[in-house]
Amino acid sequence: EPCGAQRLTASLSPLSTPTETELPAPYGLWMEIASSLPQLIASRQLRSLWQMPQLSAGDLSGREELHLAHLVLSFLTMGYLWQEGEEGAVKVLPRNLAVPFWEVSQRLGLPPILSHADFVLANWKRKTPGRPLEIENLDPIISLPGGESLRGFILVTLLVEKAAVPGIKVLRSRKPAGARVRALPRCCHLSAQPLTVYDLISLLDYVDPAVFYSVIRIFLSGWRDNPAMPHGLVYQGVSEEPLAYSGGSAAQSSVLHAFDELLGIRHSAESSESNAPLAAFLHRMRDYMPPPHRAFVEEIQRAPSLRQHVLSSGNGKLCAAFNQCVSALTDFRTHHIAIVTKYITTAAAKAKAGRGEPADGAGPPPGKPPSLLEAKGTGGSHIFRFLKSVRDTTREGMISA
Ligand code: HEM
Ligand code: ALA
Repeated sequence: EPCGAQRLTASLSPLSTPTETELPAPYGLWMEIASSLPQLIASRQLRSLWQMPQLSAGDLSGREELHLAHLVLSFLTMGYLWQEGEEGAVKVLPRNLAVPFWEVSQRLGLPPILSHADFVLANWKRKTPGRPLEIENLDPIISLPGGESLRGFILVTLLVEKAAVPGIKVLRSRKPAGARVRALPRCCHLSAQPLTVYDLISLLDYVDPAVFYSVIRIFLSGWRDNPAMPHGLVYQGVSEEPLAYSGGSAAQSSVLHAFDELLGIRHSAESSESNAPLAAFLHRMRDYMPPPHRAFVEEIQRAPSLRQHVLSSGNGKLCAAFNQCVSALTDFRTHHIAIVTKYITTAAAKAKAGRGEPADGAGPPPGKPPSLLEAKGTGGSHIFRFLKSVRDTTREGMISA
């Protein structure tokens, strides 16, 4: 079975198991350290342990191996940087980490930071090969602190991607535009479940808000638009100047970008002056996608407009099918805002009040609960202004009768 990361980049379908869950021998030590990250971070040993010869990325070959190496190096980097929490971040990434991470990133066309492609798309395996892609049969390949909640956060996000696959397939098909519009709601199970909302909501069963907020979030944070790292990060041996990169966020998932383009929802083109920077943020997140994903989204953007087709058809059924998709996307975003309120706003208030201790088994929070990241997403956006603006522009994409 081909690797998840490889099949993903080839087909945008997260439906296969990475066969490569180990790096080749010269990189055994990276893999070994990455495999015990939660323990090494909890005991504050990761930084002191990171004494090793600098390896070249030259012995890695093929996209599958490179994606796995990017995943490993990105997790090592986040762990190294944030081991001591928000206030104890290092400003310099040592060369034995920075140089190979840079090399692998260049070869893949990915930024040298943990992205959605690392955290979720390349980071899963089936427990029992051949068994279904359900949460009970899945595990992340590499973990950070956060125990079961981290596992749930990664895997639920993966399942949202999975739920979007039938829709993506319709969207890629060569059927005439009308047939695609009619097929979309059915393929996205719109009658039973609006796009992927139900998968999104299942987060509530798997992820403890206190663990998410106080333990997990910091490790996804980046060094651009982040008050905890205002000047960026020096990648030793790569650049003397600090470099700034946004942290990991599902805003980097190609799925929602693809649906937006399909339905002609233009967050940037028609946005008002006040919304323009918010739209620019979402667009910039495409730089954090694997290049084939970015190319796919741009291909949809260039294709003849479905919306125009529906509008000029004057066909009521087509209009209704189209609007069903737009409203499903709007609902997804509304639910997402509710989730964000629970996992960030409410969790932050509880953490400040000294309530909502993370459950046992999640490992201790690294330092104090993060406070600088209360109003900002790990991607660096102004959370609610951004998310509401994106949701409202989506709603405006409805075709009026
Ligand atoms: C964006 C938080 C789960 C999909 C964002 C942003 C935040 C956020 C703060 C703003 C961008 C940034 O600066 O990072 C959360 C929280 C979650 C969660 C707290 C759960 C604990 C998910 C899941 C998905 C998802 C499971 C499914 C793929 C998105 C998308 C965006 C986004 C697509 C971009 C905005 C949009 O297109 O509407 N999220 N998120 N999120 N998130 Fe989540
Ligand atoms: N982007 C999500 C956050 O800001 C993970 O917490």
